[in-house]
Formats: sequence, C-alpha cells, structure tokens
Amino acid sequence: MNSNSSIDGTAAAASLPTHVAIIMDGNGRWAKKRLLNRISGHEKGSSTVRSIVRACREIGISYLTLYAFSTENWQRPKQEVNALMRLLEKFLQSEQKEMLVNNIRLRVLGQVERLPSGVRQTLQQALEATKNNTAMNLILALSYGGRSEIVHMARTLAEKVKQGLLEPDSITEELVAGHLYTADIPDPDLLIRTSGEMRISNFLLWQIAYTEIFVTPTLWPDFTREELEQILGEYQTRERRFGTV
Ligand code: FPP
Repeated sequence: MNSNSSIDGTAAAASLPTHVAIIMDGNGRWAKKRLLNRISGHEKGSSTVRSIVRACREIGISYLTLYAFSTENWQRPKQEVNALMRLLEKFLQSEQKEMLVNNIRLRVLGQVERLPSGVRQTLQQALEATKNNTAMNLILALSYGGRSEIVHMARTLAEKVKQGLLEPDSITEELVAGHLYTADIPDPDLLIRTSGEMRISNFLLWQIAYTEIFVTPTLWPDFTREELEQILGEYQTRERRFGTV
C-alpha cells in the first residue's frame, strides 16, 4: 500500500469494508470534455477498471462489485453496445492471467444469457478457470438490473410454492436473499458512485439496504487508487448503526 495512504491501519480504526460496490459513471462525459467519441471514454474507463481491481486486491478488499453493463444499457446505440461488449471480452481475456496469478475469483451477476455468444464463452471460461481462487472476488454486474433480479427471485419462489416445495409463511428475508444473484455474497458495506449523480440506477436494490454511500464528482476514467484510498479512509470514520441507536 502506498505510504501516504489515507487508510487508517491502526487497531483502533474501524475495519475496511469487506465488500465495495462501484457504479462506474462518467465515461461519456470524460470523452465529451476532450472532444472524443464516447467509445474512447469507455476504453479509458476499462483501464481504470484494471487499476482499481489491482488496488483492491493489494489493499485487501474481499469483494469488489462493478456495475459494468445495466439492463437499460441495451438501449444505447448498437455501435456503443458492441464497443462495450468488445471491451468486456478484451478485459476478460487480458485479465485472466492476472486473476490466476493474484488468486482472484471472477463472478457475475445479471442476465448473462442476453450477452453475445463470444462474450458468454470467454466469460464462462474465466469463471471456470478462477472458480477455486480465494483472495478476492471480482464480481461483474453484466446485463444487470436490480428490479429484474427481484422479479427473477419472485418467480423462482413462486414456482417452488406452486410445486408444493415451499410454504408462503416460510419466506423470510434470508430466503429472499438466498434466491438473488448474490446468494452467497455478503451485502456491500460501501457503494461508490463516480461522476456526481445522486442516483442508484437500479443497482443492487435489495442488497444496499444498510450500505454506506459515497458519491464523488470525479468521472470514472479519472478515478484513481489515491481517491479510492481516501474514500476508504473516510468510510473508516463513519459509524454504522444498521437502524439501531
Ligand atoms: C458509464 O459511463 C459507464 C458504463 C455504461 C459502463 C462501464 C463500462 C466500463 C468502465 C468499460 C468496460 C467495462 C469493463 C469491466 C472492462 P456513461 O457512458 O454512462 O457516461 P456518461 O454518463 O458520462 O455518458
């Protein structure tokens, strides 16, 4: 970790978050400011993804979830969707070795079946190759929407009730959580959104009930390890009460 880090490593400090989730926003604005096309913004955004994954691994974050492509993003112009899919495939190919060397397990949340077959294959291969890794979980939210995740969970539970495998009275918060894409993943402790918008944008709606939220005006392509460390330091000073006093 770098020496002028803002993270408080003393025993008295509140612990680092186990799970950090990030809404990576602002690639388009970054490009526009430089009179570049939006795709250049996504390319620069991809290199930020690489450096932030590396930083989280070094800092010791156990779960990092990145909102890489939302269900709403399918409505963007075809050219932009294709470029995002290409970047994603490139990332999965180029980072696979690094994930293996650094003991990182790749996981995915979302309607994976909607992804183009090339991306699906590369994804499947990376999921399989890294499945026994234990140092960190890199979770990509791909073709992900919080509401559609909840619909998917409700259908699964309804089907179990219909088949007589489940009593409606046995539906608890734990059971609901266990039927979401994030079934065996702890809820995020910290949610970071770049580029200043005060919105959740259909991300992890159930899971962020008690998550600490940080919004930074920095556009995702400009987001750095130093700023991440600053936010982690600030997180350590917040008192989390989970609805109690
Ligand atoms: C928001 O920028 C970002 C996205 C739509 C997706 C994030 C994608 C990447 C960072 C690149 C590829 C991902 C991986 C995992 C390699 P925006 O286009 O909404 O920006 P704007 O709001 O300024 O227009």
